[in-house]
Amino acid sequence: MNWTLAARAAKMNPSVLREILKVTERPGIISLAGGLPSPKTFPIQAFADACAEVLHTDGQAALQYAASEGYAPLRQAVADMLPWNVDPSQVLITTGSQQGLDLVAKVLIDPGSKVLVETPTYLGALQAFGPMEPHPVGVASDDDGVVVEDLVAKAKDARFVYLLPNFQNPTGRTMTEERRAAVSAAAAAANLPIVEDNPYGELWFDEAPPLPLAARNPEGVIYLGSFSKVLAPGLRLGFLVAPKSIYPKLLQAKQAVDLHTPIFTQRMVSSVMKDGFLDRHVPTIRALYKSQRDAMIAALQREMKGLDVKFNAPKGGMFLWARLPEGVDTVTLLPKAVERNVAFVPGAPFYAGEGDPRTLRLSFVTASVEQIDIAIAALAQTLREELVLLGDKQLAAAQI
Ligand SMILES: Cc1ncc(COP(=O)(O)O)c(C=O)c1O
Repeated sequence: MNWTLAARAAKMNPSVLREILKVTERPGIISLAGGLPSPKTFPIQAFADACAEVLHTDGQAALQYAASEGYAPLRQAVADMLPWNVDPSQVLITTGSQQGLDLVAKVLIDPGSKVLVETPTYLGALQAFGPMEPHPVGVASDDDGVVVEDLVAKAKDARFVYLLPNFQNPTGRTMTEERRAAVSAAAAAANLPIVEDNPYGELWFDEAPPLPLAARNPEGVIYLGSFSKVLAPGLRLGFLVAPKSIYPKLLQAKQAVDLHTPIFTQRMVSSVMKDGFLDRHVPTIRALYKSQRDAMIAALQREMKGLDVKFNAPKGGMFLWARLPEGVDTVTLLPKAVERNVAFVPGAPFYAGEGDPRTLRLSFVTASVEQIDIAIAALAQTLREELVLLGDKQLAAAQI
């Protein structure tokens, strides 16, 4: 049979990263690559208890079709948990925040629509937007997030700007209070909607990040949240909060995709969250991730000594961003690191435009501290060998 593909299917490509990372699934590899929360943090007993409770108390409703908006007590719990005045009728429960990105794309993007993104940005968002055929434009960004002047310069005719103010994926950076105020004011003045993605905001180490952009201008922001990093990603449970003017369209888009997010999961999570469970559970995740971040920074300082390697110290989340010496291409370096049983994610695919080949993302949460020590030492060794090779090549080129 000759299948004639839709033009959009031709544009769906396997994730560059997932292809690269297949090799990292080999046994014995220490992966600092994946964005996987530490399974040690999954509250399995709480889920087991909630599962039994849901089935015993309301089993029939938990296994029946349900409302597309989501389970009312869970929508209420989401509204209560957010730090601004949210009406539960504005909360849409989604099948992970990744689905929120898909719905936003379907409702706001036409082929060729300009969509502004950070530099670099979350690759999964570029993928979710891709089938709607946008024209993604990277906004210049520094350690504090998008640069306001460049945002303003590029705002004209953009459908929205996609922003990750807290412990960004991939860089781990956080937008300061001053930058949030300026971005929020500039976007409102330019009539530029914001799509704010905040799956990591609760994973702060020493102090909570500043208020979300949505809290400053709820009418101008679609806010995406997730239970993946505070409970477990396998639940596939997230939510969005949308202004009343756009909510019905997002809801219609969701109805067409999956009718509703599994109601059993929603009821179970609602039961788990009773009695302030997250207030007790999330601090344990913060403490674990903070100690792992400290271990990775100590290992980098130790092992990369003398090398021109720059890395940041994220104040929360799961990722750290590094930039290697001039001439190094992290896509070329990855298979050599894998030979030494360590994997990372090259940074270039995270850029809307041309990527910086010297960058890479390291996750500090999935591997243990012992594994982090071994992996960073192996990475440093790989890098030193690469630099020798590059030095030799440059020498050879000079001699020709
Ligand atoms: C920035 C960002 N947005 C969205 C997602 C998707 O999360 P979820 O598991 O809620 O679909 C991720 C997952 O890693 C992410 O890093």
